[in-house]
Parts: sequence; C-alpha cells; structure tokens
Amino acid sequence: MKMPRPMPLLIVLAISVLALAWPASCADLVLFPVAKDPATSLYTIHTRHGANHVIDLAGPLLWSTCARDHLPAAFSCKDPVCKLVNAYRAPSCRIAGQRCKKQCRAYPYNPITGQCAAADLIHTRLVANTTDGKNPLQQVSVRAVAACAPRNILASLPKDVTGVAGLSASGLALPAQVAASQRVARKFMLCLPRRGEGVAIFGGAPLFLHPESSTGDLTTTLAFAPLRSKRGNPLYYIPVQGIAVNHAQVPLPAHALTAGGVVLCTRVAYTALRADVYRPVVDAFDRALARNDAKVPAVAPFELCYRSSMLWNRLLGYAVPDIALVLEGGKSWTFVGSNSMVDVNSQTACLALVEMKGVKAGDPSAAAVVVGGFQMENHLLQFDLEKKQLGFAKVPFLSACSNFNFTKTQ
Ligand SMILES: *[C@@H]1O[C@H](CO)[C@@H](O)[C@H](O)[C@H]1NC(C)=O
Ligand SMILES: *[C@@H]1O[C@H](CO)[C@@H](O)[C@H](O)[C@H]1NC(C)=O
Repeated sequence: MKMPRPMPLLIVLAISVLALAWPASCADLVLFPVAKDPATSLYTIHTRHGANHVIDLAGPLLWSTCARDHLPAAFSCKDPVCKLVNAYRAPSCRIAGQRCKKQCRAYPYNPITGQCAAADLIHTRLVANTTDGKNPLQQVSVRAVAACAPRNILASLPKDVTGVAGLSASGLALPAQVAASQRVARKFMLCLPRRGEGVAIFGGAPLFLHPESSTGDLTTTLAFAPLRSKRGNPLYYIPVQGIAVNHAQVPLPAHALTAGGVVLCTRVAYTALRADVYRPVVDAFDRALARNDAKVPAVAPFELCYRSSMLWNRLLGYAVPDIALVLEGGKSWTFVGSNSMVDVNSQTACLALVEMKGVKAGDPSAAAVVVGGFQMENHLLQFDLEKKQLGFAKVPFLSACSNFNFTKTQ
C-alpha cells in the first residue's frame, strides 16, 4: 500500500513565502499628518506621542535626539546598514570623513544650519495610522533604524521637533524604511498644507480630500515627470526645459537650466532662482502683469510687490500671470496666483520668488532652480522611487491639502 507522501518542505516553504509576500501589493498605506511650522516655514510630521520630525526631501537619514537610556544598535563597519548610513556625506560635515573603526557611526546633520554630530544608531519605532486614502484606519508601529544625536544640533528647527525624517531615495530615509517595515511600495505622496494638517502617505495611491464628491481620487489627476538624481547627492531633480510666463517661453541663457538642474526642496520656504534665471523670469512676470500702477516698494526678500487691493483676486488666488516649469514632452508644472503670490502684510502681496545668494550666475555647481515649500503647497506630489517618477497635480481650488478626513473609520 502506498502512503501519501508528506508535502516536501520546500513546497511548504514556498507557499508560506508566497502567502507572506502576497499582501504586499494591497498592504495598508501608512499615513502621517503634516503641519507647517509658522516660525520657520518648515514642515513637520507627527511620529509618536509628543514627538515630531521635520521632513526633509533631501534628507538621507532618520534621526532624533537620544533618549537618556538609549541602547545603541550594534552594526559592524561591514554591515550593509553601515554602508547606507554613510552613503551621503553633508559637505559641511568634516567629521563624517572618519573611518569606521569598530562600531558603525552615523553623521546626522541639521538641514538648515548644516551642523552635524557623530551619533549612535538605534532601533526605533514610529507610530502612525494605516489609511485607505480616505480616513485613518488603525494604528501601526513602523520599525526603523535611526541615528540618535545630541540636542544641540536641533538649533534653528521648530521648537517642538526632536529630529529630522529624511525623504530622499536613500536606503535609510523614511520611504525605504516604511517600505521595508510595512511591505509597501517605495513611493510616497506629499500634500503640504499652507495651514492646518496636510498628509504624507507612504506606499501608494489613492488620495481623497473634501469635498470628495467633486474631487474624487486625486492620484488620477497626476501628470508625470522623470525623477532624477546625481551621484553622491540626495536631492530630487526633475528635467526642466524652460520656464514660461503666461504660456510664453522666458528667454534664458543657453543651458541655464541644465547647468545645475531643477531640484525640489522643503528646506527653503520660497523658490530660489540662480541670478541668470531669476532676472529674466522676474522681468517677464513684471511685463506680463503690467501693473506699475499697483506697485509698492520691495519687501525683502522679495522684489516685486503690489498693493493687494489693486490686484484682482479670484478663486485661485491673485489673478496674475501663470508661471510654469516646462518639462520634457511639452508637459508643464504650473503655478497660479495662490502659489506665486504671498501676502507679506495686510496691504501688500509680493511675487514669492527669491534670488539665490552667494552663487554666481550660470554656476553649474549650484542648482538653477530650487522649488521651495510655498510653491509645492496644495499640490499633490507623488514620489515613485521604484519607477523614478514624480507625479504632480494642483489640488482643485474647492479643496486643499488640509482637507483630508482625519476621523477614524470605525
Ligand atoms: C490615528 O488617527 C486618530 C484619528 O484621527 C488620531 O487620533 C491618532 O492620533 C492617530 N494616530 C497617529 C499615531 O497618528
Ligand atoms: C469623515 O469620515 C467619517 C468616517 O468615515 C465620516 O463619518 C464623515 O462623514 C466624514 N466627514 C466628511 C465631512 O466627509
């Protein structure tokens, strides 16, 4: 008589691996509320009870101040984690060049002051909610490797933060760590608020904001651009071919935009343009608006300022010329009045662009354009690190990034 053979161990293993791997594609997305700090114009995420991190699109690490009784995680110099920790070195951080001797050390740095410190690595957990893109669902704890730094490197950051959450494509930045811990895709969406609470969602689509009936899943409205990077540099670059004001191409010096490139950066409040790009864009805007009658003296750091009561105000903000980054293939990322004009006081609105300081016109080692926070607000940005693609869309004018429904679904 033949006995049924027990299922070979390999098959059992294969099935259980498949079963574990299967939910990855439909695993729950991870939601962090995003706030804007009015004093610094930096954006923060809530990461645990009483703990906030500044988000830094160009940050390669997750770091926070050390707990008094912290237990250093023992990573040897040869550990792959140690290689990742030191993949990017802040140019201002001289100590980061030191050779790893026995235990791996990290060199977290403050994205605003550039100050850095030698730090232990620790195992930590961030507390967040899962989401279906509409509401928070349930609490999750995200496992992560972080650096723990001395308190003094928090200088110039918002008062209530304990560290920085890097959002770059690096292996120890938050997107890769959430992907590894929660088995979601290496992509995240950012919807930066001007006021109130916006969202950062890790793992993919969809996203719904009030009023849902008129906006639907906003990820269906995204346009896409390639997301590029440069060696040894954690910044996100997008290939921009030109800048247009009211659909008319601004004459720029040849190769002005390819020399240095266009980067996205949450460290700067307003978009900064290198001098050779700044002058033609500001002049083109001034000519296109043609409102010398409404002009008032400049309010630093801005140059073009107007009496706000004399600018026609429409639903999308001031009715001023559109400014667009013209991408490959003829697509554009357009900024209307709500993202191009800032109210500096109750009577004055200024063009929210600044000239880069300490950089020569045409210097290819400096970015040509650094797209800052104010311009990214109320835009949905999807960073897909697997496809190396940036999705972008303006949130419809009836809605805002602060219109996410934070009421938990029971
Ligand atoms: C999860 O969502 C609920 C409901 O909005 C909220 O009270 C709670 O603070 C959230 N938890 C985290 C860790 O964000
Ligand atoms: C927010 O979500 C809750 C839970 O699903 C729902 O009951 C409520 O009606 C929603 N609020 C709005 C304004 O849509």
